Amino acid sequence: MDALLIEGPSKLSGKVEVSGSKNSALPLLFASILFDGKVTFENIPRLWDIETTLKLLELMGCRTEWEKEVGRVSVFPEVKTKVAPYDQVKKMRAGILALGPLVAKYGEAKVSLPGGCAIGARPVNYHIEALRKLGVRVEVEEGYIHASVKDKLVGTEILFPEVTVTGTENLLYVGVMAEGTTVLQNSACEPEVVALGEFLKSCGANISGLGTPTITIEGGGLKLPSQPVQIPPDRIEAGTWISISLATRSPLEINHCDASKMTSVLAAFRQMGAKIEELNQGTTLKVTPAEIYHPLHIETAPYPGFPTDMQAQILTLLCLAQGRSTVVESIFENRFMHVAELRRLGAQIEVNGNVATVEGPVEFQGAPIMATDLRASACLVLAGLISKGSTRVSRLYHLDRGYQRLDEKLRRLGAKITRVAE
Ligand code: EPU
Repeated sequence: MDALLIEGPSKLSGKVEVSGSKNSALPLLFASILFDGKVTFENIPRLWDIETTLKLLELMGCRTEWEKEVGRVSVFPEVKTKVAPYDQVKKMRAGILALGPLVAKYGEAKVSLPGGCAIGARPVNYHIEALRKLGVRVEVEEGYIHASVKDKLVGTEILFPEVTVTGTENLLYVGVMAEGTTVLQNSACEPEVVALGEFLKSCGANISGLGTPTITIEGGGLKLPSQPVQIPPDRIEAGTWISISLATRSPLEINHCDASKMTSVLAAFRQMGAKIEELNQGTTLKVTPAEIYHPLHIETAPYPGFPTDMQAQILTLLCLAQGRSTVVESIFENRFMHVAELRRLGAQIEVNGNVATVEGPVEFQGAPIMATDLRASACLVLAGLISKGSTRVSRLYHLDRGYQRLDEKLRRLGAKITRVAE
């Protein structure tokens, strides 16, 4: 495993390009299982989670080609084994996205239960219960979900007890291949869900209500996509760059964004005092930091609320604000693992249940710290950049799962950051 050595405090300048969205690329890649011929994807980010997804597809019998430098992936979906084994799914919980496409296309699947992770228990019971309602026999045995279609997939109405992103995605795959109408109530409105739905629509699916809590799908199958599938920009990476710009007090130009998908995040940073200009139809964000930042009260929520995937980054930035901020984590029960590490650098944060109270402003001093999950690692890199002296961020594996070469991009902007083997 690698570590990052950061010499701070850093002053950055220049322009940075946002990569394709991880959480959009994963469900779109799994969608290739639904087809009988080659599907090509463009703007695929270079990440470990993409490696894991392609490995999973290969284990099923698919052929894949990845032109890493140009970000193009082709999948030849020749599925022979309808199994997503534990060894891969344990590396990436999004392996559960194999379940819907395998059931939809082949009527059977054996997918490892993802298990918990650092940010919470993360069960998949809503996926399973919804599949059962569509006519799928589902047994959970020896750590695997065994699914088989009893007779045929028949559309019905599903009410998700809570908003679930990958749960909605799994049901989209199944709904388009089922007979009749499937209505998904309380479905996720995240842009990544919309991108998957729009792709399926471009292949002939009849889906309405994308981006709203009620999605209606008329089953009827799919035709092969006629063009490469474009992965949209990563709104969480873009938000991470804004927090880096503001925390290091370095004006940055962030390119290849979609500001229209970042309303709650932009509003929060502006409320703190940042100036963020949206240029070129919102594809470029010009960020001007402020001298003084105002404290905030933030609650994470499903889209269009403030994303849980930006909680760690804004929490770190709020350590620089004048006064007391509160951050409520409403999605995952254990997503404050980064707080203990931030405190090692000098942060004054108290956690009570799902509420973190931040006192600022503080000055960070470098120290060895350890990444616990993907977004936590981004916030620890951010903390290292604003710390005086040396910070060593260990267990970098998490960062590489979800950010394309963050350290290289930072180095090009002027950060003193080195990758070392541990
Ligand atoms: N939940 C259940 N049962 C289920 C499904 C969800 O209890 O069957 C609970 C979860 O435990 C959680 C809440 O419902 O408390 C929402 O979870 P959701 O299912 O929406 O999360 P997910 O689909 O597993 C995706 C992203 C996460 C992101 C969340 C929330 C992907 C591949 N992952 O996870 O991204 O945090 O939605 O927006 O799309 C990340 O990129 O770092 C990341 C963790």
